[in-house]
Amino acid sequence: MSQRTLVLLKPDAVRRGLIGEIIGRIESKAGWTISALELRTLDQETLEAHYGEHQGKPFYEPLVAFMASGPVVAMVVEGERVIEGVRRLAGPTDPIEAAPGSIRGDFGTIVRENLIHASDSEESAIREMKIFFPAV
Ligand code: PPS
Repeated sequence: MSQRTLVLLKPDAVRRGLIGEIIGRIESKAGWTISALELRTLDQETLEAHYGEHQGKPFYEPLVAFMASGPVVAMVVEGERVIEGVRRLAGPTDPIEAAPGSIRGDFGTIVRENLIHASDSEESAIREMKIFFPAV
C-alpha cells in the first residue's frame, strides 16, 4: 500500500553533517521517493502546531528549544508501507535502545538529540504534511 509520511532530520543531524547519510538510507529502499524537501529553521508557531499534543509533558519545552536551535530538513517521503518503514529505519525514541543498523542506533546517544522524526500513523502524516507542506 503506497503511503506518504512527513520526515524531519533534526538540528543535530544537520549540524553533524548526516543529511546525506540519512537520506541515502531512505532513498535506498526500493520504490520510496522523496516528493518534497526543504531546509528550514522552525518558528514557534510551527513547532507548537507540530508538537502541540505533547504540551505539558516534561520534555516539551526542551524539545521545542532543541528543534528551534538550527535548521532541519523537512521532507515528504512516499512509497510502499513508508510510515512504518521509516520509523523502523529510525529505531526507538531512545537511541540507546535502538539496534545497530537503525539511524538512531548507529548515530545517537541522547534521547532529545535523536536525529529524525517520522509520522507515527496515516492520520499524523496527513496532519503533519499540512503543517510543513500545505501545497503538497
Ligand atoms: S509519548 O509521550 O510516548 O507520546 O512520547 P514519544 O512518542 O516517545 O515522543 C514524542 C516526541 O518527544 C520526543 N521525546 C523527547 N524529547 C526530549 N527529551 C525526552 N526525554 C523525550 N522523550 C520523547 C521524541 O523524540 C518525540 O519527538 P519526535 O520528533 O516525534 O521524534
